[in-house]
Amino acid sequence: MPLSSVSTRLTLLALFSATTFYCIYKSRRLRNLKLNLSLNPNPNTNTKLNLPKILFISETGTSKSLANRLHRFLSLNDVAFEIIDGRSYEPEDLPKETILLIVASTWEDGKPPPAYRFFADWLAESSEDFRVGSLLLSKCRFAVFGVGSRGYGETFNAVGKEIVKRMKALGGAEMIPLFEGDVDGGDVDEVFDKWCVKVVELLKGGGGEDGGDLENGEEECGVLSSDEEESDDEEEEEVESDIVDLEDIAGKAPSRKSVATVAETNGKLNGGKKQMVTPVIRANLVKQGYKIIGSHSGVKICRWTKSQLRGRGGCYKHSFYGIESHRCMEATPSLACANKCVFCWRHHTNPVAKSWQWEMDDPLEIVNSAIEQHTNMIKQMKGVPGVTLERLNEGFTPRHCALSLVGEPIMYPEINALVDELHRRRISTFLVTNAQFPEKIKSLKPITQLYVSVDAGTKDSLKAIDRPLFGDFWERFIDSLTALKEKHQRTVYRLTLVKGWNAEEVDAYYNLFSIGEPDFIEIKGVTYCGS
Ligand SMILES: Cc1cc2nc3c(=O)[nH]c(=O)nc-3n(C[C@H](O)[C@H](O)[C@H](O)COP(=O)(O)O)c2cc1C
Ligand code: SF4
Repeated sequence: MPLSSVSTRLTLLALFSATTFYCIYKSRRLRNLKLNLSLNPNPNTNTKLNLPKILFISETGTSKSLANRLHRFLSLNDVAFEIIDGRSYEPEDLPKETILLIVASTWEDGKPPPAYRFFADWLAESSEDFRVGSLLLSKCRFAVFGVGSRGYGETFNAVGKEIVKRMKALGGAEMIPLFEGDVDGGDVDEVFDKWCVKVVELLKGGGGEDGGDLENGEEECGVLSSDEEESDDEEEEEVESDIVDLEDIAGKAPSRKSVATVAETNGKLNGGKKQMVTPVIRANLVKQGYKIIGSHSGVKICRWTKSQLRGRGGCYKHSFYGIESHRCMEATPSLACANKCVFCWRHHTNPVAKSWQWEMDDPLEIVNSAIEQHTNMIKQMKGVPGVTLERLNEGFTPRHCALSLVGEPIMYPEINALVDELHRRRISTFLVTNAQFPEKIKSLKPITQLYVSVDAGTKDSLKAIDRPLFGDFWERFIDSLTALKEKHQRTVYRLTLVKGWNAEEVDAYYNLFSIGEPDFIEIKGVTYCGS
């Protein structure tokens, strides 16, 4: 299809319109979810998924037994709940929960028992992931009862506290502040009974903490303790969830005003040379699940990798290009770049420069270390529901590397050697560059698929949205697109459309297509999901 044809222009227009409508639809849907909070505990009891849940985290049975007690107490008060073991719970279903009561014990080092780490890690990672947004659990009301021992000092009920913090960060509404039971202090039953009564008050009354009628008000949890029914039903119901493409979800969208001042925090001098990753940046990245390699590279396990390991869906590259997400490693050899794009989550802290000026690590070491760290992360998926030995073993041998994590990979002077090493190991590569280093694009050895970020259609928009360091950023951008045309390999324009910033310039984008003549054009939409 010639780029100049009328039908091409119409197709593009339709694509942009569809993207915009999709963004509006998504943001409206999320807003509606937030507004649609209801305390009705049984809004739709037709499906198991919609039944409110009691979830327990328990190693030696204390929390499980308390959870069963609560279950019985709720039944006596005509409130139907499903009780589930957190070990077999699918955290991806959390956004669909309306009411969740959690009874959680704390174990060594303030962590949950090992079998429950996946649940806890999922909450922690999701709440740190800027793409998930803070409305993910906006449908969910929750309350947590912590089971622990005060004798452990600072880590007393650390798990309960952590769950509350993470659920709130993801938009969950805490019905009742955390109640903490001290198993060694002897008050756990008493405190638990009080919590149960509060829960039922809220559910039956449907009002705030202080209001509401308590039917069977004289009934207390303790009455039930001698007559507990242990539920060993660990059946996991696989429910197809709406696949939410996290690449379509962004964190808080910065305004043009708020992004005017940006802190540039380059590394400190170390033996005469700067280290790109400062301790502050390192701590930030590690907190968000990144594994830092050496002094300027990083690797992170992608949520689609985890999803496909578990037999669920893969990312769009699986559908488009046949890449198996569970065998994909997401990495970058340069956490720094020469832009401060408004949609980049690290725009207040990422190292920026016009050229490489840091200590440099060996490409072979980077690849070795990336694969080692990646496979370590894959190992941690062992025992997670849905993960089979076969897929796990496949995951240990990555077949694809997405050099698109963060930063500008072609800033790394040894990028060709690094890509060679990946290809030598029969690992295909997708590399995304931000179109500010045309000479580097020219000298780049063939990548399996080479992407250029086309973040705007005009000079003014590009300046506003990418906030490039280079004064001649537009010339560099155009030269990069021109260089792409000469690459004689598979190439892609990646458009990241932000409503109100760069989504309306259809003709301008169209003009750019004829410069680089990419094989594919991928369009992503950024959606504001609240702070
Ligand atoms: C090895 C060990 C480590 C523990 N660490 C903590 C801790 O860090 N913080 C805490 O509050 N309780 C801690 N506890 C106390 C447990 O939370 C307590 O025994 C609880 O009853 C276990 O509940 P469960 O049977 O539901 O797993 C620990 C207990 C053991 C045996
Ligand atoms: S290509 Fe790899 S890193 Fe990128 S989204 Fe897909 S699975 Fe994740």
